[in-house]
Amino acid sequence: MIYDLIIIGGGPAGYLAAERAGQAGLSTMLIEKRYVGGVCLNEGCIPSKALLYSAKVYDSARHGEKYGVIAGDVRLNHSAVIERKNKVVKTLVSGIRSKLKKNMVTLVEGLGEIAGRSSEGYEVKVNGETYTGKRLLIATGSMPVIPPIPGVKEGLEKGYVLTNREILDLKTVPASLVIVGGGVIGLEMASYYCSAGSKVTVIEMLDHIAGYTDSEIGEILLRRYQKKGVEFKLGAKVVEICEGSVVYQAGGQTSIVEAEKVLLSIGRKPVVEGIGLERLGIELEKGRIKVDGRGKTNIPEVYAAGDVNGESMLAHTAYREAEVCINNILGKKDTMRYNAIPSVIYTNPEVGSVGETEATAKQKGLDFETAKISMLYSGRYVAENEDSDGICKVLIDKKHRRLIGVHLIGSYASEIIYGAALMIETEMRVNDIKELVFPHPTVCEIIREALFELK
Ligand code: FAD
Ligand code: NAI
Repeated sequence: MIYDLIIIGGGPAGYLAAERAGQAGLSTMLIEKRYVGGVCLNEGCIPSKALLYSAKVYDSARHGEKYGVIAGDVRLNHSAVIERKNKVVKTLVSGIRSKLKKNMVTLVEGLGEIAGRSSEGYEVKVNGETYTGKRLLIATGSMPVIPPIPGVKEGLEKGYVLTNREILDLKTVPASLVIVGGGVIGLEMASYYCSAGSKVTVIEMLDHIAGYTDSEIGEILLRRYQKKGVEFKLGAKVVEICEGSVVYQAGGQTSIVEAEKVLLSIGRKPVVEGIGLERLGIELEKGRIKVDGRGKTNIPEVYAAGDVNGESMLAHTAYREAEVCINNILGKKDTMRYNAIPSVIYTNPEVGSVGETEATAKQKGLDFETAKISMLYSGRYVAENEDSDGICKVLIDKKHRRLIGVHLIGSYASEIIYGAALMIETEMRVNDIKELVFPHPTVCEIIREALFELK
């Protein structure tokens, strides 16, 4: 049988593409080498959020006095947290499996490798069999960057150096945890393990945490976590990892910090090796598959979606890119837009961002105006938070007075940011948004309120 579409990789990009293609009547094969659901469901988005939610419940109970709630002996049972996380993952993965089945997708579990091209289509080898597809979608995702720091290889082998995979499955809470890289994974894992009782140290090479997040929001997050007991070594370089400690340099000084476990979270890279891309001459750019706005590679009828194209390594981007590919395969014109993709850091407090930051707007030479407002202007925020440092920042372009960026730190930021993305995507002007009625009392009202701060 010749398939209309063969997809390599069963993460968010691959499984969603398979579902959509199957639903549209394309005979579709999905090949997955490790676990259906990919990184996101099995060792990324979902397991990390399950852990973080347990930490949130625990922290609320521990610090309930501020809200008039006195709890007795509150403890976090880490193995029960992991067990619950596994249950959550299992439920979601089985949901995906049944959706694939419903949409008549042929799922093959094994390592897929492009074997070449024949007159009938593209050939892919898996488990010793060769299958042919009229079209190919490569959705092989990404993997952690492993730095060439002395001691890393040995630590990974012996199990005291971890990646996102192992940190989400630890049997016990380490007494001390050093996190190399203060980006999204580093901060989310610092958040869980500091609540769970580890002495957490984050070593970040830049002078700030949270990457491209609005710098003021990054500062607030830093102070919050310092208050919770997380130590940050900024502008620091790890020079060696030993069993039980990490050696780093900062400000011209060499220091040692205790580390029962070390998490590597310095970024991820697309999975482009061992798939046979070279057999078709698929073009790479800076280690990722080069695609156009429709997800097409340089080879006809070969598409790539998700982390493997390195555009924006987020699950929701992967979903949308997958849809764009399938729509184009089905002959519907659809183009990927990246200007209003929200991003969230699920720390406590949460950070939500979409669109331009002051830094990117300056870089692009945009003529923009900014307004900032304290979350204390939201009745619900005050009713539910004893902390008072949450902020909302909005950016508009001066000429058209359209919203071009929203950045929040505070409760519900992860849920609110979707509304802001909608406003940016639909190019809403400040006056249009001011005419919208927001529910009261909610924290999302803060966006509308911030717009009244503009000149
Ligand atoms: P992946 O999920 O990486 O899936 C690719 C799949 O392809 C894998 O299952 C792999 O086994 C398979 N594969 C690779 N090569 C082959 C082959 N040759 N044959 C067969 N199968 C193959 N994003 C968010 O938006 N929100 C979050 O909260 C979030 N949290 C995260 C937390 C962590 C700890 C991590 C690591 C990532 C997180 N991400 C989050 C990012 C998100 O997981 C990725 O953006 C998303 O998984 C990308 O989907 P994908 O389908 O492109 O790739
Ligand atoms: P990241 O790019 O977010 O952060 C990596 C950090 O490590 C940066 O701050 C960088 O300056 C630092 N760094 C790099 N090399 C270093 C070194 N040698 N020593 C010390 N610091 C170093 O990457 P991360 O955290 O690994 O996450 C990978 C990707 O996964 C994210 O970019 C994101 O796309 C996705 N993700 C998304 C989440 C979400 O949406 N909530 C959660 C977790 C991951």
